[in-house]
Amino acid sequence: MIVLDPQNNVFTLHTKHTTYQMKADQYRVLLHSYYGPRVRDGDLSYLIQYADRGASPNPNEAGHRRDYSLDTLPQEYSTCGVGDYRLPSIEFGPEDGSCLADLRYVNCQLVPGKYSLEGLPAFWGDQGWETLVIRMEDAAAKMAVELYYGVLEERDLITRAVRVINQGEAPVRLYRCASLCLDFQRGDLDFITFDGCHAQERNLHRTPLRHGVQSVESVRGTSSHHHNPFVMLCDREANEDYGLCYGAALLYSGNFLAAAERAHLEHNRLIMGINPYHFCWKLEPGEAFTAPEAAMVCSPSGFGEMSRQFHRAIRENLIHDPFQGKRRPVLINNWEATEFTFDARKLVDIAGAAAPLGMELFVMDDGWFGKRDSDQSGLGDWFVNEEKLPGGLGALVPKIKEMGLSFGIWVEPEMISEDSELYRAHPDWAFGVPGRPHTRGRSQLTLDFSRKDVRDHIYGAIKTVLDSGEISYVKWDMNRSISDVWSAALPADRQGEVFHRYILGVYEMLDQMRQDYPGLLIEGCTGGGGRFDAGMLYYTPQIWCSDNTDAVDRLGIQYGTSFCYPVSAMGAHVSAVPNAQTGRRVSMETRGVVAMSGTFGYEMDLSQTTQEEREIIQTQVAFFKEHYDLIQKGDYYRLTDPFQYGPYTAWEHVSPDKREALVSLVSGPARSSEPFRILRLKGLDPALDYQVNGEGCWSGDLLMEAGWPLPLFRDDYQPMQLYLSAI
Ligand code: DGJ
Repeated sequence: MIVLDPQNNVFTLHTKHTTYQMKADQYRVLLHSYYGPRVRDGDLSYLIQYADRGASPNPNEAGHRRDYSLDTLPQEYSTCGVGDYRLPSIEFGPEDGSCLADLRYVNCQLVPGKYSLEGLPAFWGDQGWETLVIRMEDAAAKMAVELYYGVLEERDLITRAVRVINQGEAPVRLYRCASLCLDFQRGDLDFITFDGCHAQERNLHRTPLRHGVQSVESVRGTSSHHHNPFVMLCDREANEDYGLCYGAALLYSGNFLAAAERAHLEHNRLIMGINPYHFCWKLEPGEAFTAPEAAMVCSPSGFGEMSRQFHRAIRENLIHDPFQGKRRPVLINNWEATEFTFDARKLVDIAGAAAPLGMELFVMDDGWFGKRDSDQSGLGDWFVNEEKLPGGLGALVPKIKEMGLSFGIWVEPEMISEDSELYRAHPDWAFGVPGRPHTRGRSQLTLDFSRKDVRDHIYGAIKTVLDSGEISYVKWDMNRSISDVWSAALPADRQGEVFHRYILGVYEMLDQMRQDYPGLLIEGCTGGGGRFDAGMLYYTPQIWCSDNTDAVDRLGIQYGTSFCYPVSAMGAHVSAVPNAQTGRRVSMETRGVVAMSGTFGYEMDLSQTTQEEREIIQTQVAFFKEHYDLIQKGDYYRLTDPFQYGPYTAWEHVSPDKREALVSLVSGPARSSEPFRILRLKGLDPALDYQVNGEGCWSGDLLMEAGWPLPLFRDDYQPMQLYLSAI
């Protein structure tokens, strides 16, 4: 619920459990007064403290009043060059080279429903949303800034976006435009980020805020494997079930910056948005720039509830129709089984082994097109390699479909190999600065997706493939960090736009594909989880979580991912042992338990499995299908933290009506004289009685308060699952 008090210029956003408030004061400076547990209406600006602090200047209107400084007051959207020395949200400047932004409140507008952003991903929905638009202006610069707030009350979700308009007669350069600025009048918070590298994405790191700026960012052109555009701030003592915490996700898949600053008065500012690195957007008179959306959830009761609110909102209000509710197929993918070395017969063998085990979709991965026999050639040549697949998709797809499987295909639209027909015809379509040699990544170059002619050509070629067979799934891959960023299609003073225009180009093509093929399931992938962000999820309902399919490593990767993103978004497969990334061997049962807490599939040569393995797989697939709604749409509870606690990792899915739950666990490395352990469950109805694995009668309160005794595990990384159903 949005409450406006126009007399006092107080604007309050209430969600189910939280309240957010700002106030335009006597100088029309928009101050941030509160974000925390829900409180009654009223002007909370009494919380804002004023004091004369040395080296903190005073705006002109304040005269000689020295206790009024933008440097000490909590700002709603921080400015630059006029007295606030903390992290700026926005920087712009006219042709004279100055760089000041002095924004003052002009008016506000309450809009029913949810705003949308042209060309950018955004949460959506008809029900339960309200929008507030606050207009600010820098009168001298003739610049307007609109702050958008979307409130999804039931989910405690507040979205934000920013639109900057040049109202003057001359061009203005925009050097920075954050999507979110969040000021706190306290600095004693912990900063939580999700970091790693290729095949080790989204490991959780928690540190107390220290003085100065601490940040995570990407300048790789992707949101990156290395840092995720989702961060948290929380009370020092906050944990899964207790304490105040804030989560902030940026719906953006390119260069981002998330920075927290503990400043001189112990106050703290979080900003999040497009990374200012090599960003400069030229706004001609009358033009506007829209910054990507950011989304915040505040939970007064720990991390778990914050995550569940993000999960619900992402499942229901970010993932697009028809996939937000639609059942996704259990898939078999040939990549780890064959890499580039396959022919039609091999694919048919793998599919033939998968169909009787209950799998529903066969995905033909990299290597089916052009001269693609290794990762050094072929990208850009989106036509079937008939040496591998005689008769093309017209011959292959019907064979797969006859087995009862649907057909999916891998593409990497943003890339080009130097050894390709496309590169020989259009070498200038790859990013590259004239006079400099190319920097290769995985032996490939990046296409200039800021260019419409390049995008149109690639999309046309891929569309021909999609139209040539009944294809129900596309895996959209992207396998390098971007470098040599320069576009032959833009003048020198617009080269600072290329990184962002590239991502807008990716979004435009994804949107086109979604519209042309409404039932097509697109799985995002960026060398595994290099673009696992809420922006991508708007177009691709699931994303390959990591190239690391080792079940033990995946416990940590999926744990970190779950802080913002739901199980139904996490691509997870059972692969062969020894694992390709780690060389580790764990049982098929363990691999299945871990992978089925994602979108679930297999990535191995099933035609080479033993009868015993096939029986296990068949049981796993049947179990997953039986409990699909519980796993994919239920509430997710982290029961342990694999980064802090060694003996086992456990998690739980609970149905929204709490009548069903599935507890999954993988033990740690084996040890002698293992201590007795009891696992306390979460999220059950204390008043209900449950059967556990079809037996007994245990009350919800008993299972949550007293717990469930664990067996003594022998051998490393043993799995356990408990299925609970209310009697
Ligand atoms: C990286 C992906 O993450 C893998 O799953 C696979 O599709 C390869 N690329 C293919 O090149």
